[in-house]
Amino acid sequence: MSTHELRTVWWEDGSVCLIDQLLLPLEEVTVRCRTLPEVARAIKTMQVRGAPAIGCTAAYGVALAAQRSEATSTEALLDELWQAKRMLDDQRPTAVNLSWATSRMLQCAQAGTQEGGEMLRSRLLDEAHAILAEDLAMCKAIGEHGAPLIPERGRVLTHCNAGGLATAGYGTALAPIRTAHHQGRRLHVFVDETRPFLQGARLTAWELREAGIPQTLITDNMAGYMMRRGEIDCIIVGADRIVANGDVANKIGTYSLAVLAQTHHLPFYVAAPSSTVDLSLTHGDQIPIEERSPDEVTFIRGQQIAPAGVQAAHPAFDVTPHELITAIITEQGVWYPPFDRGLRQLCHAHFIPPVCQ
Ligand code: MRU
Repeated sequence: MSTHELRTVWWEDGSVCLIDQLLLPLEEVTVRCRTLPEVARAIKTMQVRGAPAIGCTAAYGVALAAQRSEATSTEALLDELWQAKRMLDDQRPTAVNLSWATSRMLQCAQAGTQEGGEMLRSRLLDEAHAILAEDLAMCKAIGEHGAPLIPERGRVLTHCNAGGLATAGYGTALAPIRTAHHQGRRLHVFVDETRPFLQGARLTAWELREAGIPQTLITDNMAGYMMRRGEIDCIIVGADRIVANGDVANKIGTYSLAVLAQTHHLPFYVAAPSSTVDLSLTHGDQIPIEERSPDEVTFIRGQQIAPAGVQAAHPAFDVTPHELITAIITEQGVWYPPFDRGLRQLCHAHFIPPVCQ
């Protein structure tokens, strides 16, 4: 499969389709979700993952709930859509794109209540398609804005997977890298393996290989050594939620990289679309951090790697304080500190008013 054909989430014959990210890179298998609980399960188990991708999937989940609904009044349909939103939002708490997308779908449903059930159902599917298309466009714009930050022959370190698989396509952290590569610039990517879920080793390494971008896979604990030896020029990561002061939640291990970057005087960039910004929170300590099963630490692909019964922890994200961030790359441009003003401006263009039942 070439990267041009890479699709993370799409609508086909009344189902939400996903590429199964648990099986990559060994198998390329499509998951077909025919019901709302199947969509919720795919998000929870991380068959689809990455903040923008789960937002797009959840939007299609709401559209699917509308299509499957047997409600005979728009009021009853709206009620069901609210339940669908709650079910989807509950699956993963940290990435704000999920509730951002379901709020936008509910707002669309509320605005269309006069139109009757069939029109409303088709309006919701159009809205989900629009969310997907806009995400792809935002990723491309992030690429344009971010590419100039990478020096010629730049060696870029990235963490987790913030590529096409984590979005509607093209990626956030990988977008400036892809754009610079398309522009013919020579660069080299160092890919953090990203324990415990191995998104770097499994997904980012796969995407970069498909795109023909030179890379070196490293384990997470090699990053400091590489920086100290002068082998890294900058770090670019994605985000699951950026709050009003510029604090950023992203994959566990991001904070350690930011501290290392500061020690080694390296620029630390965060790339994200406006759907990742949550101005309702003022600082990073307010961000809910997902705790996942410790089994994901003690087992790899069903193989036990720690003594039976050992206690393990699995916070899936951490928060990087804004002081450690050099710039935030968005679809509208590159924001430098202080971040609060730029983030307000960004969200103004993309504001979803709070929806209430
Ligand atoms: O647990 P995951 O794999 O969903 O976490 C993904 C990340 O942390 C990404 O860096 C983030 O969602 C940005 S994706 C464009």
